[in-house]
This record gives sequence, structure tokens and C-alpha cells, in this order.
Amino acid sequence: MIIRRRNFLKQISAGVTAVSAFTSQAWAKPTAKPIVVSTWEHGINANAEAWKILDKGGSALDAVEAGVRVTEAEDNLSVGYGGLPDRDGNVTLDACIMDENGDCGSVAFLEGIKHPISVARMVMEKTPHVMMVGQGALQFALDQGFKQENLLTERAEKAWQEWLKEAEYKPIINVENHDTIGMVALDAQGNLSGACTTSGLAYKMHGRVGDSPIIGAGLFVDNEVGAATATGMGEAVIKVCGAHLIVELMRQGNSPQQACEKAVRRISQQKNAKDIQIGFLAISKQGEVGAYSLQPGFNFAQYAQGTNQMKDVGSFYS
Ligand code: GLY
Repeated sequence: MIIRRRNFLKQISAGVTAVSAFTSQAWAKPTAKPIVVSTWEHGINANAEAWKILDKGGSALDAVEAGVRVTEAEDNLSVGYGGLPDRDGNVTLDACIMDENGDCGSVAFLEGIKHPISVARMVMEKTPHVMMVGQGALQFALDQGFKQENLLTERAEKAWQEWLKEAEYKPIINVENHDTIGMVALDAQGNLSGACTTSGLAYKMHGRVGDSPIIGAGLFVDNEVGAATATGMGEAVIKVCGAHLIVELMRQGNSPQQACEKAVRRISQQKNAKDIQIGFLAISKQGEVGAYSLQPGFNFAQYAQGTNQMKDVGSFYS
């Protein structure tokens, strides 16, 4: 069953509850394994693909890779194919993946490859390294049999041309301009994995890399404790090692919800916090889910117990 955001909002306006009134308890109950959660509405389609694997007893690692590949292939202005380009018109991609053994792989500033998450997995599995960037990452991908293609769609090019008229550098990432799919999953065996992939901040400087491919910032998994992922303004997330911070807070006994709230509060102390959006999403080893954002508007998709549904999230600012 899929409960889409529009229906969810109808429930809210019918007086079920108000988004800003959500409390930690809203997400705190453990759910049965398996479970997969991912950022934003594009998470619905991604979760559906991940669920096919989880439901058959497959691994969280295979599920998160398959799940976010769906979003990478969708024409959605913020991840993979169709992503908004940098200020010079280049679509550059960042992605990382991490498994239950603490192994991880990452690519950044990669151009022309539709599925950077799968390249990241190959970095993890076929090289002694964690992170490859730019031309080297591209060469590695081509050597592994990936095809190079144009990822700049007509729609994204048009938006960029429009932006060029003013070329105002206003890096706000919010629900209207959201980015990144971050997905974390707990499989039937009780193992955690995560994946994170994006075309990054629209109209960024050429060469800019955000939090999404950085292990510990955009994604972190510790199979004893939990997993967390981030979306929003990457620079702010990098400054607090956001996903790692959340997992460490969970290790200290915080629920995923408490950990996400504490991490957002930490970011709220940064000087531009009022002008940016950050969203965190986490699950514990027990399958509890938490999420919190700096500004209103963040949501996530959760697939558990046969139901794939959108959940809105409380925020630091109202
Ligand atoms: N969170 C994605 C980015 O800042 O690039």
C-alpha cells in the first residue's frame, strides 16, 4: 500500500494532527524487520524497489543500492539523471554506500555516469580505497563497464539558462529545491546498510562536493548501533560530521529521534542556519526510526510491514 504525501496532508488538514505538533513518540516505536526509510517523496519509488529485495530476505546492502538507483534514473532535478547542473552547466554527481561490516565506497565530482551509487559500491568491493573523485572515478567506472552518457536533460538545461540571467548564488535547499536521496535499511537478518546519492547543490561552483559522498557526513552505518543519512545544505552537515554524530549519539543511548534533534540543534548554532535546510533520518539496530530538520518541509518515505508511506517531520524552526 502506498500512502502519498497529498493524502497524508489531507489527513493533517482533517485535524488528525499538525506537522509542527509531531513529537519524538511519533516515530519512536520499533517496527518489525525489515524496514527501509529514505529522504523526500522520491523515496516512495526507491523504497518500493528496495522492499522487493528486503521482502525476500535479501541484504540491506543490495536493497539500498537497488533502491536509490531508481531515483538516480528518474528525471527529478536533484539526483543523477536530470539533476540541475553546476553554474557552468555540468551535472556532477556524488554518492556513497556503507554496509554492515563498516565497509564503504564513495565517488565524488563524477560526470556522465547514471548510477554513481553502483560505482561507489565497486570502489568498496573492487579497490583498496574508499573514495574516488573526478576523472579518476570516471576512468574507473568506464573500466568497470559503465557507459558514459549525457545526464543534462532539456528541462534542467532550461532551468540553468533561466538561472544564468541573474546568476544569483543563493544556495537554499528546501522542499522546493530539495536534493539527495539518503536511504538506510535494516534487513530480515538484522543487518544495516545505507546509500546516499545526489547531483548536489544546484548551480554550485564547478568542483564543489557536498556531504553526500562523505562517509560520516551524508551517511554512516554502525551495525551495532544504527544508521543515519542527511539531506540539505552539505557544507553545514560536513561541519558537524552529521551522520556519524547521530550514530554516536545513538550509541550513547539516545533514540534515533533524539539523536536527529540533537544534531539539528548543533547545526542551528551555525551562523547561516536560518537560511538553509538540513534534514536527518536515522534508524536504530532495533528498527526505531527518527527524523528531524532545521526548517519545515522535510519528509521521508518509510516501507515497513508491507506499507510504503510518507511521513512529515518536525523542525527546529517553525
Ligand atoms: N546534500 C547534498 C549536497 O549538499 O550536495
